[in-house]
Amino acid sequence: MKKRLIRHASELVTCAGKGPKRGREMAEIHSIPDGAVLLAGDTIEAVGPTKELESSVRLEECEIIEAAGKTVLPGFVDSHTHFIFGGYRADEFSWRLKGDSYMSIMERGGGINASVTATRAASLEELVARGRERLDTMLEFGVTTVEGKSGYGLDCETELRQLRAMKQLNAEHPLDIVPTFLGPHSVLPEYKGREREFLDKQLTEVLPLVKAEGLAEFADIFCEKNVFSVEDSEYYLNKAKEMGFALKIHADEMVQLGGSELAARVGAVSADHLLQASDEGIRQMAKSGVISTLLPATAFCLKEEFARGRKMIDEGCAVAIASDLNPGSCFTNSIPLLIALGCIYMHLSIEEVITALTINGAAAVGRADTVGSLEPGKKADVIFLKYPSIHFLPYHTGINLVETVIKNGKTVYQK
Ligand code: NIG
Ligand code: FE
Repeated sequence: MKKRLIRHASELVTCAGKGPKRGREMAEIHSIPDGAVLLAGDTIEAVGPTKELESSVRLEECEIIEAAGKTVLPGFVDSHTHFIFGGYRADEFSWRLKGDSYMSIMERGGGINASVTATRAASLEELVARGRERLDTMLEFGVTTVEGKSGYGLDCETELRQLRAMKQLNAEHPLDIVPTFLGPHSVLPEYKGREREFLDKQLTEVLPLVKAEGLAEFADIFCEKNVFSVEDSEYYLNKAKEMGFALKIHADEMVQLGGSELAARVGAVSADHLLQASDEGIRQMAKSGVISTLLPATAFCLKEEFARGRKMIDEGCAVAIASDLNPGSCFTNSIPLLIALGCIYMHLSIEEVITALTINGAAAVGRADTVGSLEPGKKADVIFLKYPSIHFLPYHTGINLVETVIKNGKTVYQK
């Protein structure tokens, strides 16, 4: 296979880094004018100014890809999604438009539990088919690595089916999928008041099977008022950690419970949502190195205040931004929407938003050593934008500017 030389990119953004960028570093995206990237198979061989790269290769031995007038970036990493589910909840969205709240719908039996019923009824083939469609859409938005959670089964059989659907899709679809076990996503009525028992069931009956089949890398929990308490979440997370899972937490979304502090205490890789994270929680995340994953499209769809992303970065946190694609609180995985909300409402610069969607997203899924930046040795995951600078991303508001997606060195999407 010929090497591929991408050259003359008007702006080439490398996002260089082997780990997450914190605080002020988030603005350092390493932009190269008239930039080039050399791909050897599925790996990046070199990155730099076009002149430099051209002088180091035999041009006649390369496939040349012209990128004049384009911005070239690392593929985006969507580090928090629930993209495997059965059924839809459009009715809930219309109720919320009329003033209903997410938690009150959940308390009367809708919400996550409604998706649990629909997902239990869905076959593996159906979950795979719907999942494939969603992955295709992600690819068009320039996403080349995605995290996906179970959590719409709550029982052993359906949790495993969701995870197996992801395993199958990971093998057949160009996107890389990082799977997360989210068995404690909700409490079914029969377990109300017996949350510990439910968690023990997950820990002793489901997680060992997940581990034996290699179906998940992370364990996650919905730590929220009327769902799982901080104490129960801590119990579950520590046990999951002992079993070898890396940790994530749905933290401080609706109520300020102390999920951010808990994330720091248990050494979670990320704490996600954080709309209500306290000042102390923000300090703890910055100090401990937990990645603060913000999901602004969820806040937008729920008409909630956005997470305090500006403050988190100013306090030294490593912020990632992700879609949270799911059938309830946020049925969108629009990257242009995330960029608009990040820049306009969370007061991040476009450089910070790009870091949040690339190297910090990669770190949030434990992949910062292989994806999230354009550097020699990393996976050849590269996207091209229609316009010559990153500043078109927020400016051409809400529009998908991605024209070309290269995944593992192969062009997998071309507008
Ligand atoms: O991340 N907050 C909890 N879990 C999901 C929502 C899932 C759903 O409503 O189906 C979230 O927003
Ligand atoms: Fe979520």
